[in-house]
Amino acid sequence: MRVGVIGAGSMGAGIAQVASTAGCDVDIFDQSENACQKALEKLEKILTRLIEKGRINQAEKESVLGKINIVSDLNKLKDADLVIEAIIENEKIKKELFSQLSKLVSKHCIIATNTSSLSVTNLASVCDYPERFIGIHFFNPAPLMPLVEIVPALQTDNEWTNEVYQIIKSWNKSPVVAKDTPGFIVNRIARPFYGESLRIFEEGLADFITIDQSLKIIGGFKMGPFELMDFIGNDVNYAVTESVFKAFYYDPRYKPSFTQKQYAEANWLGRKTNKGYYDYSKDYSYSDVDLDKNLANMIVNRVLVMLINEAVDALYLGVASEEDIEKAMTKGVNYPKGLIEWGRERTFSWCVSQLDELYGKYHEDRYRCSPLLRQLANS
Ligand code: NAI
Repeated sequence: MRVGVIGAGSMGAGIAQVASTAGCDVDIFDQSENACQKALEKLEKILTRLIEKGRINQAEKESVLGKINIVSDLNKLKDADLVIEAIIENEKIKKELFSQLSKLVSKHCIIATNTSSLSVTNLASVCDYPERFIGIHFFNPAPLMPLVEIVPALQTDNEWTNEVYQIIKSWNKSPVVAKDTPGFIVNRIARPFYGESLRIFEEGLADFITIDQSLKIIGGFKMGPFELMDFIGNDVNYAVTESVFKAFYYDPRYKPSFTQKQYAEANWLGRKTNKGYYDYSKDYSYSDVDLDKNLANMIVNRVLVMLINEAVDALYLGVASEEDIEKAMTKGVNYPKGLIEWGRERTFSWCVSQLDELYGKYHEDRYRCSPLLRQLANS
């Protein structure tokens, strides 16, 4: 299979590695030839490290590298069976590219976008044969993260969705199918992990370390929300929240936080600037934190119930199947268990009572309970 990758940044390079490791011939194009060269140099280093760790041998390294070919002209992708775009997240620039690309590839070539936040349907609209256009959303770093969200546009033919599903499976990834709605599955359902934690902080109920430690020790999450936002970058995480909020016509459930906005404005972006919610020039001993059990339980319950509500509501609105929602949150963001299973375990009636209590206290639409959650609690 001949795969074209457009954009040789962190995502494009990772996707090229995944496809070539799976045995595809990969042509990679970037408007900056230097970016392609850098991507290949980085890949060479990654593969050398994998040899040192005994994960691959020299022949495998050569085979992966040998299958990746840098092309200096978009026209060279004309014989591709599948082209995956991973360029800058800009609607106008992506549309220009797809309009051009869809005219030069064969009508049997699948054209895919790796966008995180733009409407796949909107991008498909500029293509010749939009029925073969689809979203293939990898997570960062693509070679390590198993989850891939497959997002058919309104125009996409089912046949192509099934074909892409099989291709992604054959690349050793775990595909899920998501409806083309803001944030797809993971970036939608995960919002309260950050948003509710920030809100708890803003209300002065707990500091960053207490919230992180509560969710890790009692909740079982691998990383706390503040650590994770620092890892992702407050600029990136804030931009995703803001774009989901706008795309949902300002639904208060997805409202961004002033705290995070200011951290981004102050350039306290997290690990990449050495300062975010934590100061990375210092060593932290998290174990020194003495957790107040009642406070820690309140934090976990409040964040968890918001996540469960979001997952159940995504199911209610047909964003994905229950199986795919559970798979997405465990494989895409490493949650300790599926959120719907978690809701069942805690009991759905407990979830409803927690949400109703929050709603009763704040009278904000942010805490409205999903109709399906209420229905599950009653059944
Ligand atoms: P990046 O900034 O690292 O790389 C983008 C590359 O695209 C650059 O090398 C740039 O030279 C090239 N480029 C820009 N415009 C171009 C054009 N018109 N034609 C050809 N090449 C062009 O970006 P990154 O992080 O790799 O993201 C790429 C895409 O993947 C975006 O749509 C982003 O939303 C999506 N994505 C990003 C994730 C992340 O965590 N970084 C996760 C999942 C999706």
